[in-house]
Amino acid sequence: MSIQKPKGTQDILPGAVEKWQFLENTARELCTRYRYREIRTPVFENTELFSRGVGETTDIVEKEMYTFFDKGDRSMSLRPEGTAGIVRAYVENKIYGEPDVSKLFYTGPMFRYEQPQAGRYRQFHQFGVEALGSEDPSLDAEVIALGYTFYKEIGLKDVTVEINSVGTPEVRANYKQRLQDFLAPFKDELCKDCQSRYERNPLRILDCKVDQKRFDGAPELLDDLDEACRTHFEAVKRHLDAMEIPYRINPRLVRGLDYYTHTAFEYKAAGIGAIDTIGGGGRYNGLVSQIGGQDQPGVGFGLGLERILLVLESQGVELPKPPVLDVHLIGLGEAAENEIVKQLYRLRSEGILAEKDYQSRKMKTQMKAADRAEARFVAILGDDELERGEITLKAMATGEQETVALADFVGVLKARK
Ligand code: HAM
Repeated sequence: MSIQKPKGTQDILPGAVEKWQFLENTARELCTRYRYREIRTPVFENTELFSRGVGETTDIVEKEMYTFFDKGDRSMSLRPEGTAGIVRAYVENKIYGEPDVSKLFYTGPMFRYEQPQAGRYRQFHQFGVEALGSEDPSLDAEVIALGYTFYKEIGLKDVTVEINSVGTPEVRANYKQRLQDFLAPFKDELCKDCQSRYERNPLRILDCKVDQKRFDGAPELLDDLDEACRTHFEAVKRHLDAMEIPYRINPRLVRGLDYYTHTAFEYKAAGIGAIDTIGGGGRYNGLVSQIGGQDQPGVGFGLGLERILLVLESQGVELPKPPVLDVHLIGLGEAAENEIVKQLYRLRSEGILAEKDYQSRKMKTQMKAADRAEARFVAILGDDELERGEITLKAMATGEQETVALADFVGVLKARK
């Protein structure tokens, strides 16, 4: 039996990969404008990084990590997300020694052992940013705006930004108690997941899709915020208003990772069945010290690229097409074939997209192939023409043919690029 790809993974084939390149190029260009610089960290890390960083009681760490022992008996995990590894690299390479804020971005695969469905994979890809070293609420707003602008620039429509403040660990401890008191009378009637979250991670209960209707009148975290949290949240909103980034306050938004403080946000869009979250992030002021560095604040987001492509497709958005073939070269006869190989090399050296046939197919078949490849020109060289130092150039759109001196051939095509 032939071997197949692991469940929950995808092959990104030529024809589809151009869409990925478009997303990645747009992300890179946008980040350059916002002065975020690229960082690349390993796809596997010591397991402890994630249990300490993402949180021992989160679904991600409890159930979804690809964890294995390497040959040196060290527990390693494939990264389920990007933030923990970047914070580790920030601490390990002492990037915080730099005078200004470190604004970083990344794209790459993440791994979570989840039940696959549309928009949910075991290997998926994120575009993310992390800005470390400042508590300035304008940085929270900048990060939210950057993500929002990314969606806009790739042509995604109707993205909603939801924001909340999840306060500080102290604020949350208070709130957790109030929430447990509220839930206690009907705790046993909640779904199985919520029952197990009641002690471990009660804030996540409010996120539950099954029990949502039972939460009317539940206490809200926003009511428990202290003065400093409130001031920060107000400032973030003010900056978003000034930038005219539309947002909605969702007091139940808690996120699935433990490191958040103050701002938490999600980007939502319809089009992938039951899933509507296409990206998320927030501020994480305790994470750097938790991972072993100087106490440095941070804020960032992660956007799922597969989900973006699914929503784009459901909205019927056409992505820009990759460059077509400039010229297909056909050599008739051995000497002409040899000349074609040389011309092909010269064309490509000059930045022209050029191709030939490698299977000695008939001229008619080659013409058809060139047409399918959307070649702008076909150049035909026979032995007679070769002797005269000429080549025939045919414009595929009009069918017009002309004779060009071989010596001018590259120059002529360059002029028509
Ligand atoms: P997250 O909410 O766990 O946050 O993931 C961010 C995004 O990754 C999701 O909104 C979704 O688009 C995509 N995603 C997550 N799991 C899957 C999956 N199984 N299949 C497909 N797409 C998925 C984080 O990962 C944080 N590190 C974000 C962050 C950065 N916070 C601060 N900085």
